[in-house]
Amino acid sequence: MSHPSTPTRRSGSRPLGWADVTPRAAALNRRELIAGAAALAAMGAAPATAKIAAQPSAFSTDVPPNTFEEITSYNNFYEFGWDKSDPARHAHQLTTDPWAIEIGGMVERPGSYDLADILATAPLEERIYRFRCVEAWSMVIPWIGFPLAALIERVGAQPGAKYVAFTTLLRPEEMPGQRAGGIDWPYVEGLRLDEAMNPLTILASGLYGEEMPKQNGAPIRLVVPWKYGFKSIKSVVKITLTDKEPPTTWKSLQPREYGFYANVNPEVDHPRWSQATERKIGGGLFAAREPTLMFNGYAEQVAGLYAGMDLRANY
Ligand code: MTE
Repeated sequence: MSHPSTPTRRSGSRPLGWADVTPRAAALNRRELIAGAAALAAMGAAPATAKIAAQPSAFSTDVPPNTFEEITSYNNFYEFGWDKSDPARHAHQLTTDPWAIEIGGMVERPGSYDLADILATAPLEERIYRFRCVEAWSMVIPWIGFPLAALIERVGAQPGAKYVAFTTLLRPEEMPGQRAGGIDWPYVEGLRLDEAMNPLTILASGLYGEEMPKQNGAPIRLVVPWKYGFKSIKSVVKITLTDKEPPTTWKSLQPREYGFYANVNPEVDHPRWSQATERKIGGGLFAAREPTLMFNGYAEQVAGLYAGMDLRANY
């Protein structure tokens, strides 16, 4: 993925170095901490390290997650700039409180829902998901969130609703990237209603047991683990149910390169690079690239959504 008028190579950023190679033990210790914190919380003594209590999920992968530092320092959030390090540098400018999501279109109970109300929709879970960017790098991220299906059930999809459209905050005074060109702001994304209702699809409000860092899409973002990362829209302020496929930012910008479905598919290359393998962030300078899995490893849960569809035509 690259800015239409910007070179694909990262120019100003530092290359990955030894500082990026964090021992797995650090991540594991963090997980143990969270597990321990959850146990303590159950006994009524929540330590300061666990700000968010979340249930474990059977959908979590066993693959050790990336470190908090990796997940929060190598980001795509073009509202804050085009370099991977820009979001971590600039996202502190974003005000996330108060926050509400306007839910409308083909729903029974439209309205402006406050963040706290949204988060009370369903118990928060820890979902440790594989995350694969269309640029062919990947991470494993321990999100905190709840199924989007629960929110859609709560507001009630009208018969005839087929798609769910999402919109990111438009606030150029806090988002320097929105003051520049390149993208027709605000960032928009969409899912088919059955994709949105799939139990893997979550709205995430945190990671590593902490509130969502701003560079990762605070205070609430979508996570769709079998699709390329650009579908997982950040800092959502609007959710609209509709009967027509909604416009999506990257498809509108470069329709030959990015489709509406954007399912991870190692057999369909991006016009400018292969999607067969991926570079695991934090894998170290000499790590071999890993093979990319169909639907990013979630085929068992989601392949049925696309039965009979030509996945080359519907990329
Ligand atoms: N959402 C908004 N609003 N703006 C963006 O630029 N980038 C997308 C996605 N969601 C983006 C966005 C892309 S390309 C990716 S890979 C992921 O966010 C990155 O998520 P992460 O920084 O939490 O890893």
